[in-house]
Parts: sequence; structure tokens; C-alpha cells
Amino acid sequence: MQIRAADEADYPGIDSLLKSAFPGPEEARLVVCLRAADQDTLELVAEDHGRIVGTIFFSPVQALSPAGTEFYGIGLAPMAVTAEHQKRGIGSALIEHGLTFLTTLGVPWCVVLGDPAYYSRSGFQPASVINWRWDGDPEGDHAEAFMIKPLGNHALPDQAALVSYHPAFETV
Ligand SMILES: CC(C)(COP(=O)(O)OP(=O)(O)OC[C@H]1O[C@@H](n2cnc3c(N)ncnc32)[C@H](O)[C@@H]1OP(=O)(O)O)[C@@H](O)C(=O)NCCC(=O)NCCS
Repeated sequence: MQIRAADEADYPGIDSLLKSAFPGPEEARLVVCLRAADQDTLELVAEDHGRIVGTIFFSPVQALSPAGTEFYGIGLAPMAVTAEHQKRGIGSALIEHGLTFLTTLGVPWCVVLGDPAYYSRSGFQPASVINWRWDGDPEGDHAEAFMIKPLGNHALPDQAALVSYHPAFETV
């Protein structure tokens, strides 16, 4: 099993994996849209004997403070591991490899919208601790699920902010 950057030849395998891992085709479509919009900052695959068994995608996100300060970071989404390869650490390894590479690029933080029990294992904490909210959840109903992790030596910003994903996420 190896983890490496995805290339075009992997796209059909990534598409099949996303369609099988999620209830609908939205995540597979999201990845196609983000690539087309040049928002594919980092896309990794886990390959086992020539087969794509895991995938993770990172794209730019923007945060805006009430005073108008803009912060730029990265969003993790989507990620998936084939059912028969789950619970072997592949998902955690994809996150770790991705965040390590993004750290070397100087990316200051990564956000994710997902299960807190899973992503807290990789060092994510609720973004509410720094008064950051996702603009798709204005009432804060999913505040626990919106998480952030500082990368490298970066400290998390100390101003409240509203985080926006690329418009392609509105279709998910
Ligand atoms: C989430 C996912 C990528 C994890 O992949 P994985 O390779 O199994 O992850 P790891 O092996 O690193 O970690 C597995 C552990 O996380 C736990 N886990 C997996 N999904 C979880 C979730 N949603 N909430 C809490 N714990 C979860 C597993 O029970 C397992 O626990 P264990 O180590 O105590 O047995 C995989 O379950 C998956 O593809 N799910 C369907 C798609 C999805 O929900 N993607 C995430 C949203 S973008």
C-alpha cells in the first residue's frame, strides 16, 4: 500500500470510490467541479496492488472577520476509504500525509466538516473555540462538526470569523 499524489489516470478510480463510499454522487461531482475550478490544492490516493482504496482532497477556504480581515487556509473534503480497507489506519495516514505536505507549503490551518469523534483523533478541534463558524451553518446547529487544526508553527487566528468554502460545495 502506498500513499501518493493523485494524477489524471487515477480519476476514474477516485470517482468509483467516492460513489461507493457516500450515499449519493455529490462528493464525486464536487471533486470534478473543484478540479475544473483549479481548486485542487492537494489530492492524494492510497493505492493497494494497483487499485485506488483511499482518497483525500484539500481545497482553499477563506475566513472573514467582522472587521473585514481575510484569512486563507485549506479545507479537507472529501475523503474516503473502501469499505474492505477501513479501520486499518489508511484514513488517518491520508490525513497525516496531506497535512504534512500542506505544512511544508506554509498553509496555516485546515478546517473540516465531519464527525468530531473521527477528526479529533487527527488533532482537529471545534472551530468554535476561536469563534469561527461555517457560513453554511448560520445558527450553529453543526458547530461541533466544524473543526480546525493549526499547521506547523502557526497559531490559530485570534479574531472571530465566518468561513466560506468554494461555491461548488453548495451542491453537496
Ligand atoms: C471516514 C473514513 C474515511 C475512515 O477511514 P479509515 O481508513 O477506516 O480510518 P482509520 O483506519 O484511520 O480510522 C478508523 C477508526 O475511525 C473510526 N471511525 C471511522 N469513521 C468514523 C466516524 N464517522 N466517527 C467516529 N469514528 C469513526 C473507526 O471506527 C475506527 O475506529 P477504531 O480504530 O477504534 O477501530 C471511512 O470510514 C470512510 O470512507 N467512510 C465513508 C465516507 C466518509 O464518511 N468520509 C468522511 C467524510 S468526508
